[in-house]
Parts: sequence; structure tokens; C-alpha cells
Amino acid sequence: PRIAVVVVAAGSGTRLGAGGPKAFVGIDAHSVLRHALNGVFAAPSAQVILVVPAGREGDAMTEALSAAGEERRDLVSVVAGGATRQGSVAAGLAVVWPDIDIVLVHDAARAFTPPDVFERVIAAVGVEAPGVVPVLPVVDTIKRVVGDDVVGGVDRSELTSAQTPQGFDRAVLDAAYRVADREHTDDAALVAAAGHRIVAVEGDAASFKITTPADLDRARGLAAKHPP
Ligand code: CTP
Ligand code: MG
Repeated sequence: PRIAVVVVAAGSGTRLGAGGPKAFVGIDAHSVLRHALNGVFAAPSAQVILVVPAGREGDAMTEALSAAGEERRDLVSVVAGGATRQGSVAAGLAVVWPDIDIVLVHDAARAFTPPDVFERVIAAVGVEAPGVVPVLPVVDTIKRVVGDDVVGGVDRSELTSAQTPQGFDRAVLDAAYRVADREHTDDAALVAAAGHRIVAVEGDAASFKITTPADLDRARGLAAKHPP
């Protein structure tokens, strides 16, 4: 199959509070986006689409070429994102080439996603189900709290936290985005709402999303242990 990876990197990084869009924040000598792209370009994709804040398209292309090599320039598309993550994914989907069969949607903020997560997702799309999401078991005991009353526990054995890349049959993802009439929490939820089966594959702790300053510290620790 022909695979495209849509890398959403157009968020503002409010919770990180680093004074600029999160994807362009430095982890070490390299940005969040550049680390994420090292993983993306290790996966067997035909097209890589970067969705970035308007005005940062040139910077994004520079990052992509330094990660992929100038000879892979033709693989790379760069577009401006939307006001929400869902809007940014939609902007990316609009430029997927006609001959692509499988689309992966990946958060740039998951800068250290290992290549085998991409491989597990790709292997399951269309074989197991039209939608695939990498997950990790929830480690904490979960309580349902209303106001400040604990109103019950939740069976943790059924709970997981969802990561990216999430992989989809291209036609199914396009159609689900066309009929989506509200914001969903992730692409798997949007595709499930359109009536399609989603299966889980194993995620990876290294695939954590850089969201807060503490996450950035963790990323810096990881980068120091695995220099480029
Ligand atoms: N994203 C995007 N377009 C948006 C919002 C988010 O492309 N309008 C991307 C982010 O760049 C990130 C991923 O979606 O790679 C996950 O979003 P999140 O971690 O929430 O990033 P931000 O929205 O940038 O952070 P915050 O919510 O703290 O502002
Ligand atoms: Mg956000």
C-alpha cells in the first residue's frame, strides 16, 4: 500500500508556555518537530504532510529536508493548519495524493515515537480494521468525581490512553471527515462516530506527548541519552 503521514504541528503550545509554537521549541540543538520527523522519515511512507502555523511553512520545509535529506524533497508537502487540531488534520487531508491508500495522523508533539509503533499501526490498517490506534494501559486507579464527591470507580482493566500515529484506510478517513459535524477528541473517535471499527495496538511510553514544561524536561533528558 501507498502510505501518507500527516504530521500535525500547528498548535500554539499554550500549556507549554515556551513563548512560541510548540513544534519549533528546541529540545536540544533540534526542535520538537525535527525530533518527530526523524521517526516519521524512518517509517515507509510515500508522502509526508506537515501541518504548521501559517507563516512557518518555510521553516517546516527546512526541518523536513534536514531530517529526510534533500533528495526526498518531493515526498514532502507543507500546509498551514486550522484553529483546532481537527481543522489542522482536515487541512492535511486536503493535500493527500490521489494514489495514497493508508493515512497515518501523528502529533508532532510526540517527538520520540519509536519506529516500531509506526510499523504496528501500518501492519494493522485494513487488515484488522479500517482504523488503528496505539494505546497504553492506564496505570492509576480511576475515580469518577462529581463536584468533589467520589461517585464510583471505573474498571481500570478496560481503560487505556490513546496515542498517535493513528492509521486509517484513506477512503474511510476522508469520508469520516466529510460527515463530521462536531469536534472529536481524536481521529479514532471521529472515525468511530462515522460507524467504523477501530482496533488497538500496543503503544509505547516513549510516545508521550510533550504538553507541559515537565514533559519538555523529560524530552530533554531522553535527547541527552540518545544524541543525534
Ligand atoms: N495541533 C494542530 N493544530 C491545532 C492544535 C493542535 O496541528 N490547531 C497539533 C499540535 O501541534 C500537536 C498536536 O496537535 O502536535 C496535539 O495538540 P496539543 O498537544 O494540544 O498541542 P497544542 O494545541 O499546541 O498545545 P496546547 O493545547 O497546550 O495549546
Ligand atoms: Mg491543544
